[in-house]
Amino acid sequence: MKEIAKRVLIGITGSISAYKTPLLVRELIKNGIEVRVAMTPTATRFVSPLTLENLTRHPVAVDMFDERIQNDGSWHVHLSHWCDAMLIAPCSATTLAKLSSGNCDNTVTALAMSLPEKTPLLVSPAMDTEMWLHPATQRNVRSIEQDGALVIEPEEGELASGLYGPGRLPEIDALTSHVLKLLNRMELISQNEEMMRTVDAALQQPVYDLQEGVDHDAFDAELELQHLKESLPISEQLRGRVVLITAGPTREKIDDVRYISNHSSGKMGYALAEIARDAGAEVVLISGPVDLPEPDGIRFESVESAQEMLQAVQVHWTDADVGIFAAAVADYTPVAPANGKIKKSDEEVEFVLKKTADILAWAGENKGNKAVIGFALEAENGLENAKAKLEKKNADMIVLNMVNQPQSGFGGDHNTITLVGKHGEQSFDPMMKTQCARLILAAAGELLGSSKST
Ligand code: CTP
Repeated sequence: MKEIAKRVLIGITGSISAYKTPLLVRELIKNGIEVRVAMTPTATRFVSPLTLENLTRHPVAVDMFDERIQNDGSWHVHLSHWCDAMLIAPCSATTLAKLSSGNCDNTVTALAMSLPEKTPLLVSPAMDTEMWLHPATQRNVRSIEQDGALVIEPEEGELASGLYGPGRLPEIDALTSHVLKLLNRMELISQNEEMMRTVDAALQQPVYDLQEGVDHDAFDAELELQHLKESLPISEQLRGRVVLITAGPTREKIDDVRYISNHSSGKMGYALAEIARDAGAEVVLISGPVDLPEPDGIRFESVESAQEMLQAVQVHWTDADVGIFAAAVADYTPVAPANGKIKKSDEEVEFVLKKTADILAWAGENKGNKAVIGFALEAENGLENAKAKLEKKNADMIVLNMVNQPQSGFGGDHNTITLVGKHGEQSFDPMMKTQCARLILAAAGELLGSSKST
């Protein structure tokens, strides 16, 4: 397979969502893309150029006269010819106006104007709803599209102002996927003259229309999948090993139509299962009820209650090399679940609950040479509690996340984790659950490596 184009120039402009751009840059780098950054002076009020310099390991172009970027004074020509594509994200209303009128009074617009004709410009506007819907903004969007820019429609949702409407910067994974798809498509262009004409026509469409074309194009999707797989930074230690994972919530029966449960989405456990599978592991996924499709290529056990989950773990435990206990298991279950439906009669009703079996603790007691990894969702004293759990449950590592942190815990696509081991801990910035899964599995691989040598 031919390499996809790999160099992306990111222009950041003055919208509050600029604070998300380090995550975007990091995600692209993790996908094997080389990234350079230019920022408008206003953007530096929302995100520090230093953070982006550290991530890209290159000076960020903010000031046109910055000695570090000069390259004999033709810095804009060098950078705009260096990249395979440029993405402006977030793109403010002001920058849209400047792009539309050809105003080059900052590094971002100067670079966009200097791009060679064949280099695509992706633009991801983000602003308050009224600004986005304003006729002047819409006119500028149409005008830059006519000039060949590919505009990513902003998402609808809650905005920094507290208002709700279109104007949000798309999530980082959506932006990453726009960039990867564009680069893959460009690779096809260089590979195939015949295809080039069709693709060129598609490139004239806004990216959200392009998506449809991409979906129909299995060849394209395969290239992207292959590329993503190649970028997995997971050690070879997991290849051929059996990784047992619990995921999702449990349901504890009250009667035949009611239960006690929680909001766990299962996303973390499913991400672990898919990434472990792609790293060559044999995966056993034991899942409570979730809305996610059963992943291909793994052994899958669907369970309801904590007791059923424990039994499924016990059945598969002998074979396992690693156990990762990501499920949000109910801590208590009704002592006497009723058959049928409990009728409404008394003003108050009491249920007696008993503790469920602690599956992680059971695995810790029956550990042998296996690596055991648990999770801890904490509201306070996170590190202290995670260390106590590590000890009490005889685990090798606890993945700590805090209830009250943004981008953490149940539901969303992101998590903010600290890996707590016997010899110390490491905290990470918020990242996608798939990326958390890679870190956890890399640590699992190391645990296996060290247990083999002792
Ligand atoms: N766990 C388990 N079986 C249970 C309860 C929890 O396997 N019956 C696992 C979870 O999958 C997770 C870890 O234990 O890996 C969470 O530890 P736990 O002490 O149960 O955390 P909390 O439920 O948050 O406990 P507490 O409310 O006491 O903090």
